[in-house]
Amino acid sequence: MKIWLIGAYGIVSTTAMAGAKAIEKGIVDKTGLVTALPFFAPIEEKVPFKFDFGGHEIRLLPNAFVALKEHWEQNRHFDHEILEHVKEDLTRITAKKGTALNCGSGIKGLGTIDTLEGEGLSLREIVDRISKDMRAFSDRDTVVINVASTEPVPRFSEKFHSTVEGFEQMIDEDRKEFATASMLYVYSAIKLGLPYANFTPSVGSSLPALKKLAVEKGVPHAGNDGKTGETLVKTTLAPMYAYRNLKVEGWMSYNILGDYDGKVLSARDNKESKIVSKDRVLEKALGYAPFSITEIEFFPSLVDNKTAFDFVHFRGFLGKLMKFYFIWDAIDAIVASPLVLDIARLLLFAKKHGISGVVKELAFFFKSPMDCEIVNTYEQFEILKKWFNQLARA
Ligand SMILES: NC(=O)c1ccc[n+]([C@@H]2O[C@H](COP(=O)([O-])OP(=O)(O)OC[C@H]3O[C@@H](n4cnc5c(N)ncnc54)[C@H](O)[C@@H]3O)[C@@H](O)[C@H]2O)c1
Repeated sequence: MKIWLIGAYGIVSTTAMAGAKAIEKGIVDKTGLVTALPFFAPIEEKVPFKFDFGGHEIRLLPNAFVALKEHWEQNRHFDHEILEHVKEDLTRITAKKGTALNCGSGIKGLGTIDTLEGEGLSLREIVDRISKDMRAFSDRDTVVINVASTEPVPRFSEKFHSTVEGFEQMIDEDRKEFATASMLYVYSAIKLGLPYANFTPSVGSSLPALKKLAVEKGVPHAGNDGKTGETLVKTTLAPMYAYRNLKVEGWMSYNILGDYDGKVLSARDNKESKIVSKDRVLEKALGYAPFSITEIEFFPSLVDNKTAFDFVHFRGFLGKLMKFYFIWDAIDAIVASPLVLDIARLLLFAKKHGISGVVKELAFFFKSPMDCEIVNTYEQFEILKKWFNQLARA
């Protein structure tokens, strides 16, 4: 299959590319991939483990290998030997210039950027260029995944964001103040009939107009924001309190991370999307909202290591207050990038079974699953398996 990555030179994208190629060559095994579990074996028939990559970027490096090497030199997030084995494949992958429209102050931390709006293009022209790039790359087995830096929460416009007609009017009237890059990428992908997944907290395909477009065009899509670290642990642990009738009084989550993602998220406007996405899960998992503090701060020397400190204050029998502390210390790209491959495969699997609109059964992979109130990891996994099983046997 083919995957078009928005943010193709980021650490998650390039690690997904490197991992896919290393697995294809038999250098590493499939640990970390959900679709490699024996339960999902039937996926091999319809969506074999073989990938071509392309994408959009705003940091115009010569190719994906240069980007991977840059990330590797800072993070050493896998063995050097793997770098050598994937060099040729990734050198052949060159991203196309994308848009960073209304992507917030955080992207200044990315260094020199080059965008379509920087060429003075109108919204219609930007969409045409994005669509042309996607069309040239794609075939019937192509999925688009947004792994670009997190955008700020956009200002919602009833007129331009709630219907397909309104959205197209916004494009035709060049009302740039109401559009964000993620909306334009989704619009282009869905218009071309390409399944889309939003691995970021940016608005993406949750915009009502774009959800309607996906239904009209018969395109499956999923999101939002990959559930990879602290939130994965939180939504796995919180059900324990619910099942044992223990009352969570307060939950503090303090995340520190470096790298580009950390730099972008250290900007207040960009960070807000992420905090909203991380914060909602507790209320959904427990059935009530305990006192909560969620913070994300930039910590340069950590580079791609993300450390989360969590403190849970809970009440038990006889009203007694007790405490639980945990520290999650993981390499972000290592926990995130296999999910990009999993989501891409499962979305294509959905398309091949004629599924369109929001694929809420993929909630298992996301922090803020679209159209799904269930955040409990176990329940989400059961839903995913049931859905997969039904399709596989169809
Ligand atoms: N790593 C994780 O565990 C994890 C989990 C959930 C979500 N995410 C999200 O995934 C995204 C990528 O994370 P990362 O660690 O790879 O970040 P990164 O900063 O390494 O990569 C982002 C890439 O996107 C590019 N980019 C930014 N805006 C763009 C735009 N408008 N169009 C095209 N390209 C653009 C940047 O130049 C950069 O190369 C972030 O939004 C992050 O919040 C990551």
